[in-house]
Amino acid sequence: MLDLMDDVSLLSDTGPSLVGRADELRLLGEHAHRARTEASGTMIIGGDAGVGKTRLVAEFTATRPVGTVFAGGCLELGVDGLAYAPFTAVLRQVLRERGREAFEAAAPGGTGEFARLLPELGALPRGRHEARGPLFGQILRLIQAASGGEGVTLVLEDLHWADGATRDLLVHLVRDLDLPGVQIIATYRADDLHRAHPLRRLLPELERLPEVTRMGLAPLTRDQVAAQARALTGHPLSAARLDDLHLRSDGIPLFVEALAADGGADTDAAPDHSRELLLGSAHRLDETAVAVLRAASVGAVSDVVEHATLARAAELPEAGLDRALRTLVEAGLLRVSGTGYRFRHALLREAVHDGLLPGPHARLHLRFAQLIDEYPDAVPADRRAAEQAHHFQAAHDLPRALQAAWRAAVRAGEALAPHEELAMLERVLGLWDRVPDADERVGGRSRAEVLSAGAAAALEAGRPRRAREMCDEGLAALDEGPRADDHTLAVRATLLSRRGRALPSELGRT
Ligand SMILES: Nc1ncnc2c1ncn2[C@@H]1O[C@H](COP(=O)(O)OP(=O)(O)OP(=O)(O)O)[C@@H](O)[C@H]1O
Ligand SMILES: [Mg+2]
Repeated sequence: MLDLMDDVSLLSDTGPSLVGRADELRLLGEHAHRARTEASGTMIIGGDAGVGKTRLVAEFTATRPVGTVFAGGCLELGVDGLAYAPFTAVLRQVLRERGREAFEAAAPGGTGEFARLLPELGALPRGRHEARGPLFGQILRLIQAASGGEGVTLVLEDLHWADGATRDLLVHLVRDLDLPGVQIIATYRADDLHRAHPLRRLLPELERLPEVTRMGLAPLTRDQVAAQARALTGHPLSAARLDDLHLRSDGIPLFVEALAADGGADTDAAPDHSRELLLGSAHRLDETAVAVLRAASVGAVSDVVEHATLARAAELPEAGLDRALRTLVEAGLLRVSGTGYRFRHALLREAVHDGLLPGPHARLHLRFAQLIDEYPDAVPADRRAAEQAHHFQAAHDLPRALQAAWRAAVRAGEALAPHEELAMLERVLGLWDRVPDADERVGGRSRAEVLSAGAAAALEAGRPRRAREMCDEGLAALDEGPRADDHTLAVRATLLSRRGRALPSELGRT
């Protein structure tokens, strides 16, 4: 695969020239300047899927701001028990570029709190403390210190996938960065926010803060679509073709690209469905390439799929695999990223993944789950359990899904991420009755103990009502009898105390 990576023309993440967006780039530039000279500030960019948020920010960070850019994205798996994903990426970048010293300077008492997010930094602090103040405070100090001199721009992409812990930390940073030097740019997909989406509550809360500016990114105008199509195909379109392209793409550059890549085929079979549009060029692939693309859609579930992992999952002879990958990269479906591949666009991965039939879908997820057992080092330590829980769940391997969800809950607890911990414990409890040796798979704990852990996480996540329900269920599940042993009595006492803590807060929040 290495010759693929040498081919620089394939690595470009920005495609042909940028169309429009001059005003937005100017606003971002002014914002960066104010953030560096007057007060740190946050710009939140919202827009439909494929409208060009990532492209705009990439263009901006590649050309405009002085100082360093640190970037991290929320992962699709983020809703699924993986905590602090974009911040973990940012911290890893700080570690690479500034070394351990940066962390030691921000955490004079030792780097233990940072180790909650980056296990490679060392041992976790002993004992569990429930307040996230020290962790959040140290991250803030680290970022503020990293901005020294020329300032930093912190890019946090795809907030619509943000986990609860990421949302909390973002609010903390936005509010408490009180020295100049830091520009935060956050993006989200506006069309992905269903009614109960947590961002719907968070955005207005953020917007009220003086540190926050909002930017809505509009689709391209008809003239801009014309310019984009021209840059892509190398020739101008007739007025009729342009009308058609503008109509069918809705001015969304991602769809303009897909339609133009399709040779701008004059078909009347209007693939209104965005999925069909994106998959246009995939229809001409040979069987092997399709198989590799499908495997990648499962393996790249949260980000990049490593070449070695994909090779193990695809189970193809090396030459065939390399040929297929080259075809996929040349067709613009996959992009080389480090030593692996990512989909050209998240929507494309979704479209391929959603097209899998149930059999291959379960088989591939099972394969990727097993690969994490076989080659644990292929996945960063902080992600292993959550990814495995996801794959085993999708593969309907309930016993191992339960076991991995428990480990993911423990991991989220270590990272002080109660929302994710609760989500994973809920999953454990949901599977409990369908897994005969459930207690053995959670380290010999009873259902009442898991409920008690869930109640603690629910309390920390600000969900007292759920905490009380879990305590009640736990108390009912306790097998006390006339001769309850000490352990049972201790579990009962903990459940009662957590129930006691839940009640007053529950009254305050209906
Ligand atoms: N102004 C533009 N000019 C030319 N190409 C563009 C422009 N904006 C976006 N594109 C191209 O359109 C495609 C989709 O853009 P991008 O990935 O930035 O969308 P997005 O808003 O980040 O989508 P998502 O919500 O899925 O993250 C990319 O290939 C990008 O290069
Ligand atoms: Mg994007």
